[in-house]
Amino acid sequence: MSVFDHWHPVLKSNELKSKPKAIILNGKQVVLFRDKEGLASALEDICPHRRMALSLGSVKNGRLTCIYHGMSFDRNGKGESPGTEDCKISAAKFECLEFYGAIWIKSANSSAPFPYFDIEGFGLMDISRYSISAPLELVLDNFTEVEHTPSVHAFLGYDNKKMKEVVVEPEIDDLKVRIKNTGPQKKLPPLFRYILGLDKKDLFVDDWTTYFSPVYTVYDQYWVDAKTNEPSDTRLRIYLFFNPISDTSVGLITFTYMKYPLFSHFGLNLLIKPAIKQIVNLEVLRDKKILEKILDKNPNIAGMKLTRFDRSLGPNRKRIDRIYKGNIA
Ligand code: FES
Ligand SMILES: [Fe+2]
Repeated sequence: MSVFDHWHPVLKSNELKSKPKAIILNGKQVVLFRDKEGLASALEDICPHRRMALSLGSVKNGRLTCIYHGMSFDRNGKGESPGTEDCKISAAKFECLEFYGAIWIKSANSSAPFPYFDIEGFGLMDISRYSISAPLELVLDNFTEVEHTPSVHAFLGYDNKKMKEVVVEPEIDDLKVRIKNTGPQKKLPPLFRYILGLDKKDLFVDDWTTYFSPVYTVYDQYWVDAKTNEPSDTRLRIYLFFNPISDTSVGLITFTYMKYPLFSHFGLNLLIKPAIKQIVNLEVLRDKKILEKILDKNPNIAGMKLTRFDRSLGPNRKRIDRIYKGNIA
């Protein structure tokens, strides 16, 4: 297995219209376009004729047409030349799917399973993309520990004065790294608490699992009553994919879902949806800002002084190497 052998969500569906669009994944430029039927398609972004970027061209009759000498390619990469009959030319293609409001690609001949979501009963709040100038490992480190949430986050996370009470429960196997965190919630604005039906003393649970084909973390976030241990009906489920752009930058794509018992009442969904979108966006941008300030961005953990919150760092690296990059130890 190598990086391209896994399914990666690289664009939001509504970002791909009639013009071709280039993305970079793991150092390689890929062009995406819609064919005549509107099917999302992906080719290597280099014309096999004389290496022009195909993304500079346009889509004519559902074929991606090179800006330089007008050769055109269908969704399978099969090429035609306007001036040379029987010109046998083809562009390298990727498998391409549109699912969950995003466009996904993987190499044409891999058999990696598609990362289906478990979202029964949840409503989609938002899909957003970000890029962060830091290596994959350091970005994943940040998103798989809660010790930064008191100082970096605005809402979702733990109370600075009560961090010692936060319980961290890891569960690690060959394929995934799960950590369940439970502790006193960071102070929330009263209106926000009221709308979500939460009490001041409720404990915040951030229970996540990271998978490595591709690299993504699924966050289950909810609150429990401090006295009865009863979990809240309001829940967030966030799928966060970490797509390396290069060795020093990562593209993130978040799919935010929510279970909210009052959705159908009083038009609250009209209020909640933009609010949740804003909150998740705010927290990710705060994470981005802090990550880009790390002085030494060497992803090696040797020499770091890790705490009880950092238990995923070592296991994450081993699985990135073995499962995601396909390196046999
Ligand atoms: S380089 Fe693309 S048609 Fe010539
Ligand atoms: Fe964060």
